Amino acid sequence: MQTAEIQRRWLTFFGDRGHTVVPSASLVTDDPTLLFTVAGMVPFIPYFTGVVPAPFPRATSVQKCIRTLDIEEVGKTTRHGTFFQMNGNFSFGDYFKEGAISYAWELLTSSESDGGLGFAERDLWVTVYEDDDEAIELWKKVAGLPESRIQRLGKADNYWHTGQPGPGGPCSEIYFDRGPAYGAEGGPAADDNRYLEIWNLVFMQYLLTEVRSKTDFDIAGELPKKNIDTGMGMERVAFLKQGVDNMYEIDQVRPVLDMAAQLSGRRYGADHDDDVRMRVIADHVRSGLMLMTDGVSPSNEGRGYILRRLLRRVVRAMRLLGVDAPSFSELFEASRVAMRDAYPEVEAEYERTSRLALGEEDAFLRTLASGTTILDVAVEDTKQAGGSSLSGDTAFLLHDTFGFPIDLTLEIAEEAGLSVDRSAFDTLMSDQRARAKADAKAKKGKLADLSVYSEFRAQGETVFTGYDYLQTDSRVLGLIVDGIPVQSASAGQIVEVILAESALYAESGGQAADKGSIIGNGFDLEVLDVQRPVKGLISHTVQVRSGEVGAGDAATSVVDREYRHSAAQAHSATHLVHAALRQTLGQEAHQSGSFNKAGYMRLDFSWNQALSHETRSEIEEIANNAVRDNLEVVTRILPLDEARKAGAMALFGEKYGDTVRMVDIGGPWSRELCAGTHVRTSAEVGLVNLVSESSVGSANRRVEALVGLDAFRDLAAERAIVSQLTANLKTPREQLPERISDLVSQLKAAEKKIAAFEASRLAERVPAIAASAARVGPVLAVLEDVGVLASADELRSLVTSVRERLAAEPAVVALAARAGGKPAVIVATTAGARDAGVRAGALAKTAAGVLGGGGGGKDDLAQGGGTDENAIPAALDSIRGALAG
Ligand code: SER
Repeated sequence: MQTAEIQRRWLTFFGDRGHTVVPSASLVTDDPTLLFTVAGMVPFIPYFTGVVPAPFPRATSVQKCIRTLDIEEVGKTTRHGTFFQMNGNFSFGDYFKEGAISYAWELLTSSESDGGLGFAERDLWVTVYEDDDEAIELWKKVAGLPESRIQRLGKADNYWHTGQPGPGGPCSEIYFDRGPAYGAEGGPAADDNRYLEIWNLVFMQYLLTEVRSKTDFDIAGELPKKNIDTGMGMERVAFLKQGVDNMYEIDQVRPVLDMAAQLSGRRYGADHDDDVRMRVIADHVRSGLMLMTDGVSPSNEGRGYILRRLLRRVVRAMRLLGVDAPSFSELFEASRVAMRDAYPEVEAEYERTSRLALGEEDAFLRTLASGTTILDVAVEDTKQAGGSSLSGDTAFLLHDTFGFPIDLTLEIAEEAGLSVDRSAFDTLMSDQRARAKADAKAKKGKLADLSVYSEFRAQGETVFTGYDYLQTDSRVLGLIVDGIPVQSASAGQIVEVILAESALYAESGGQAADKGSIIGNGFDLEVLDVQRPVKGLISHTVQVRSGEVGAGDAATSVVDREYRHSAAQAHSATHLVHAALRQTLGQEAHQSGSFNKAGYMRLDFSWNQALSHETRSEIEEIANNAVRDNLEVVTRILPLDEARKAGAMALFGEKYGDTVRMVDIGGPWSRELCAGTHVRTSAEVGLVNLVSESSVGSANRRVEALVGLDAFRDLAAERAIVSQLTANLKTPREQLPERISDLVSQLKAAEKKIAAFEASRLAERVPAIAASAARVGPVLAVLEDVGVLASADELRSLVTSVRERLAAEPAVVALAARAGGKPAVIVATTAGARDAGVRAGALAKTAAGVLGGGGGGKDDLAQGGGTDENAIPAALDSIRGALAG
């Protein structure tokens, strides 16, 4: 049974039983406490907690999920996948334990010809939470399961939560017995490899606050309703139904594994280590593809870092299979073909995702090459110093800076006959982990503060009136200081204010927060920041300018009109530039981020080379033409599906059932989903001045522009500079570049001439200086003050020229000068002098000491300097004394 068929049967079964079929949400969640969608229930969390009323009593989905905690297990077991699909059915206060158990049993055990999954009853076992007698009774009653195939387990196995504060509850898991070939008798409690978990039924009925670990958490109380959240592992069911050994061999994954085998010329099934590598590749390529499809780009933090790690592990595994050449193009193509039927977005986004993948592979291969050079040098140094073990520092540097996995370092060191100081490396790693943990803890502390916002949010959404009004009368719902509600705040205090309605725009969608104030009877608050700490709630951080504000007071939010207008100009300009970019570069120039505030905008997009000057000008011109055309800006609220059909560029993170705001500029000329504030017609943007284009990470570029008056002011400043130059150089504007480049060449030629002249003038002095040589101790010595020179370089060339003349003699040349404004002395020796035991370095040091400074160098040439130019004669005398002695 193909994976797609399992998916179809699932959705039909639950759809026929009154469940609303909900398409998979993005892998990227808008829940700030979760990096990724880790379970089918994630998009429904607000319905379980009751923060948002559920739009349907029951639902079903096949949800894309990512979990990377067990990344080291991938490929070694049959069932650890970083990307997987969870088939779920959900009840929001509708049916509970009995319903969940009977649906699961029916679907699993109905014959294939009846639309079921056709598992034999005798192969199924279940576990329940230790004290859940009710579930045991239901399993006996509904499924007729004998008590011998029902086992009780503790929190570690049979209690489910997301790992973050939120909903949770005891669960009951269904297992499939793969038979004696896979392990010992005794049910899931005895062996979870032979008995494979396929479906988890969670009886979601509690609200968890602190979650310290899987088994250590605080229960705050019951949820408003008793809910059901179930998750069936589609990959696991697929591999059982397809008669293969593990999830890496199912129809959606195997083609990548085969491609890895083909590229490496190794056979799957011939060698255990190679098999694991091929499975890692198959898993990670698919996960990478799906993550990038949902808008994640490789980077050094957060989601992007996890993606980067997956992609690098693929490169590493390919190398271990003996493939050093690039292979992503073939591997990703194989995964694309395997996944595109289930997920059409894979096809739609492939231009962009494959470019990202290839860029990342190329960058990592280059990193590997430079890391390898560093490693080679370290190996060489270690050997020369007679060591047999590479330092932990080197291994850590390679890991931390170059992304070298330790086993790669071990392997290369071993090839060179060295070991690695593993314990020093491990210490450095655990130090780093401790730092990261402390960081994460600090962050988590911050997130825990969200509870106060959730409480306000539970009272209702903050109504944003700012699309239509710049001022709105409302009421203070509450004040917060450091995460704690307070009753009032007085002059000077900084406090967060929650209003029932607000005209002030909260930072979101790349647009900075509004500036403005909140005023009321006897108080005036300056708005410092506006944010949405949880969806639907606006929080204003303010400083009390005067008076005292209290919870319950009437209050008016007032937007700074000037600021808002400039911000709207900048946001509309962002859309114009985005449309212009796509017109110029093609549809693959995909926006990956943006930011705008009054007078300024920037836009990041996937593209892997610098834009030429002509392309930049073209984009700028298209955007400004759109400004001149005075296109109408129209915003509409409509269901997500309709917006997609209308061709709006989909952003990531919208969910099925959401209504979205679509902003058109000139009808379809520019059409985006956007919650920002905009001008009414494009002409109000005024002017777009593209000031820079640069790289931000691999295959990602950034354009920045000034907008409106700021654009004008920037151009005016440039005009002022130009007119100053035309006046000073007495050259018309058009000829300035040529004139300046002429001047620069003339200057260079003149400098060259001067240098040549100086050199010949110095050369002329050489014979006379050399002639002053007189015997001191064992050598001929030239000890002269040569006066003022332009630089120490001149002094050095004079010294070496004089030495050349005396090369046949045992001679020392020590010349002093005021070079570049400071006293300096340079000493040179001939071979004969060195044979006689004279060292230039020691002499320069002696003289420099007299000059009040320091010096040194080699035996043949050395230099010293100081601060006291009157001491030059004494410094030369000190050399004479040293030679005589
Ligand atoms: N949330 C549960 C799980 O992930 C069931 O869907 O296992």
